[in-house]
Amino acid sequence: MSSKAAGASWCFYPADYKGYTIGNITGSSIGKSVRLSRALSSASLPFPKPLSELKIDVQEETETRIRVKAKNQIYICTYKFCHFSFDSTVAPMTYTDQYIEITVAVPTSNLYGLGERIGTLKLKPEEGPKITFWSRDQPPDPDRNLYGSHPFMLGVESDGKAFGIFLLNSNAMGLVKTNPVSVNYKTTGGILDFYVFLGPSPDQVIQQYSEVIGKTMMPPYWSLGFHLCRWGYTNTDNLRLIVNDMRKKQIPYDTQWVDIDYMDSYKDWTLDPNSFSDLPNLVNDLHSYGMHFIPIVDPGISNTVGYAPYDDGVQRGIFIKTHDNSSFIVGKVWPGNTVFPDFTHPDAENYWYTHAKAFHDKVNYDGLWIDMNEPSNFVKGSLTGCTTGNIDEPPFVPPITGDMIDKTLCTSAQQHLSSHYNLHSLYGHFEAKATYDTLKKIRDKRSLVISRSTFAGSGKYTGHWTGDNHSTWADLIYSISGIINFNMFGIPMVGADICGFAGAVDVELCTRWMQLGAFYPFMRNHRDRDGDGQDPASSLFTSTLPIMKKALEQRYRLLPYLYTLFYRSHTDGRPVIRPLFFQFPQDPKTYDIDRQFLWGSGLLISPVLVKGATTVTAYLPAGNWFDIETGVESMGGTHVFDAPLSKINAHIRGGVIIPTQDHDVTTTKSRTKDFTLLVALSTTGLASGELFWDNGESYDTTGGQNNNFIEFTAENARLKSKVVLYDYAVKMTLGSVVIFGVHSRPTIANFNGHHVPFTYDSNAKVLRFQHLNGDLLRTFTFTWS
Ligand code: NOJ
Repeated sequence: MSSKAAGASWCFYPADYKGYTIGNITGSSIGKSVRLSRALSSASLPFPKPLSELKIDVQEETETRIRVKAKNQIYICTYKFCHFSFDSTVAPMTYTDQYIEITVAVPTSNLYGLGERIGTLKLKPEEGPKITFWSRDQPPDPDRNLYGSHPFMLGVESDGKAFGIFLLNSNAMGLVKTNPVSVNYKTTGGILDFYVFLGPSPDQVIQQYSEVIGKTMMPPYWSLGFHLCRWGYTNTDNLRLIVNDMRKKQIPYDTQWVDIDYMDSYKDWTLDPNSFSDLPNLVNDLHSYGMHFIPIVDPGISNTVGYAPYDDGVQRGIFIKTHDNSSFIVGKVWPGNTVFPDFTHPDAENYWYTHAKAFHDKVNYDGLWIDMNEPSNFVKGSLTGCTTGNIDEPPFVPPITGDMIDKTLCTSAQQHLSSHYNLHSLYGHFEAKATYDTLKKIRDKRSLVISRSTFAGSGKYTGHWTGDNHSTWADLIYSISGIINFNMFGIPMVGADICGFAGAVDVELCTRWMQLGAFYPFMRNHRDRDGDGQDPASSLFTSTLPIMKKALEQRYRLLPYLYTLFYRSHTDGRPVIRPLFFQFPQDPKTYDIDRQFLWGSGLLISPVLVKGATTVTAYLPAGNWFDIETGVESMGGTHVFDAPLSKINAHIRGGVIIPTQDHDVTTTKSRTKDFTLLVALSTTGLASGELFWDNGESYDTTGGQNNNFIEFTAENARLKSKVVLYDYAVKMTLGSVVIFGVHSRPTIANFNGHHVPFTYDSNAKVLRFQHLNGDLLRTFTFTWS
């Protein structure tokens, strides 16, 4: 072993600790196996059951992916590949039953990812010891383990080349990043199973990661509209007033949610017979207006005999059991004493489906909000406490908040697949899968699942919201790195509670938050039961309602572009939201930026995040950029843009064509409206873009059928379309084309060979064609000269 690296845990080891020695190396050019032997007797280590013989497999699974797996043992790797070297010789390694430690040297300190956490996007030079992984019902504050677990990091080297490292391990874990750079991992068990992704672009790293964890679900189109929620709607009359007010004020809005208030004594799959008995009618009314409805469900099932979801679960034996499998473990959540479905049990999905379906027969919901699924428990471990053995009181615990049984179940609890000790951070993941499958079976069309707890790969089934944030400007800022991180984690359908969950409503903050939230992939305004409501129709916002509406209308116009980005994420694993360095990895100025972000590669959002500010300082990477509202062109560099309360700055990158559609009050309506193409010419007059279009809710549209796919290109004062696939019969009308960056007034313009009228703004250099009434499903050509 080489010199002692800062941050590695030498204090744990005897002074003469030697770790493992390398024995036989066997294998071929794409794979190697290494045998290691422990150099000291186990008696000198503070952890039980160290392994003495270890076998490590190193496999080049694809040209850009290496997997390093210790079958049942510790591993060592000095595998060199291209620009990336994975070197574990900087500190001792340990592999015991309940403590595994390894340090990985990485070639850069530009490291990202590792969550769920809140804080700066780029990890600080010395981050730790509190990058911890153990799902917890924990409001998003810095230096805490939060709701989900994603041991994935992405690095960018000084030459702009990116790599990713994923440790597939669900045990409690702590990481320390040291400077110069190594990352020290300590877990409470499991195996070491590392994947290394070689990029070389950040985008490609995420795509390669998605091949391992699974690609994101394709969300229904309506779920990209605005969602409104609150904890504390006291009854359906009260809720109806808000729905009607939203409609009266013509506020774009697709989905109404309800929190636990609708339940009878907070029991899942029930309706409060007094205050929410006519919820079914309200839901029908939403549907008749082209809107959708999502209720909450929690995993804690009241253990009341006579309550069908309890009796049935007992009969099927699908609840999580105590350490000795003698009974179901009992905790406490909203309905009082509860048991918890074990979603790893083979009969759990049938169980979940049975009760979800019975409730759906009453209330025709379109998606499910799965909350409290860390799982959260109001008592520590269980009503009767936990055992004193080394599963509930392990020899090593990373520096998580509380201890491992705090706010959750005993780790000794037994699930079908393994102990809760190993499966805890996967609880939300398995619930999300069961919920996704259940909704597919019930509705037979794409539904929306939003889960609080997630694990690597959950994006296949669910989106996520970042939990119980606060109505503060700091939380507004942190929401950006939060949504970027989840896009790296393969869960692009993500947003923060707009205006903040906890704390008093602040009109200016809430207005800015609605503007920024209009660029979250998942846009939901939600707050807790205290204080005033913060729906945009509330009388609190009389003065800023026009601004909120403007933000919503702009979002609704941009949805065809957002939907196409989701299609790309679903099929190719590309992130929907990207930090600037994803598009400009060669530009080191982008590495620290976490107050701006991109939609895809084409739209840069630079929000105001400071109280009272009326300007925003924004960095535009190299190239030309166009203000999406005015078309005014700015070149790469740092700019101070006007940003009165009525405006959020968004710039289209020169070279990109963005498909948009006229807005309306629901996506059901806006989907039938005219399309407009926003064409942002590069400095050399080029641009390209694409549009994916389907019915917005079938499952069978993304496999090369039942959809329309159109490509757009601009070059030499000519804009062309190509209908790559026309397999969904629908009317798609091209209403307008707006071309940014046309430097002189044309004298003539043609659309499919015929003269067309146009307008030209000589200040902003924008060329506009309107009232085209063109058929987007037929190849077209525009020319101007
Ligand atoms: C906790 C969730 O994070 C929050 O969004 C919800 O309102 C409450 N549970 C009540 O269900």
